[in-house]
Amino acid sequence: MSLALSLLPYLLLLHILSAVGWLGGAMVFGLLIGPTLPSFNPAARAEFVLKVIPKYVRYVTGFALMTVVFGILLVGDIESSNSSALSLSNSFGAYIAVGATSALLALIVAITVIGPAAKKLVSLTAELVKNPSPPPPDLMKANARVRAGASAGLILLVVALIFMVAGVSG
Ligand code: HEM
Repeated sequence: MSLALSLLPYLLLLHILSAVGWLGGAMVFGLLIGPTLPSFNPAARAEFVLKVIPKYVRYVTGFALMTVVFGILLVGDIESSNSSALSLSNSFGAYIAVGATSALLALIVAITVIGPAAKKLVSLTAELVKNPSPPPPDLMKANARVRAGASAGLILLVVALIFMVAGVSG
């Protein structure tokens, strides 16, 4: 048995653990925190945004990058033992390709939409705490962008999960 072949179960475990962290984080935000946050009183909302959101963004970004890195290592491992297994002309290859494309789109949404909007949300909230005033329109915009990005990301991740599992179970 080659070294590359024997790594597959470990890479798969790390890939699935990272995916659980990413998808779990996206579900908690999309289904629980995002919809509930507007009902907090302003002081509690500000405290939550300042204390939790920066850590949350780092946590989800870390798991997202790990999912993709371990996914790519899995592709390399499978290719090295059977170069035609991931061909687009068979269902395993095609399903994994669609799942991976959806995952990459979710990563792009996370990096280009959610991350910058969350950063803005945190900095505008910090300013508001220092100089209390009615929330500026930019804060509402950043909030809406975080929520829209989180919903789009969640849908893309569920699509990725469905195609990954369908591909492996044939
Ligand atoms: C660029 C991103 C990704 C790539 C390249 C990738 C690649 C792969 C590959 C090649 C496998 C098959 C491993 C095998 O045959 O043993 C796999 C399995 C799996 N992937 Fe991904 N993946 C990616 C993203 C994701 C995401 C975002 C999720 C979940 C949200 C996910 C969840 C899974 C699961 C649960 C399995 C195991 C399925 C099963 O055993 O039934 N993957 N992935």
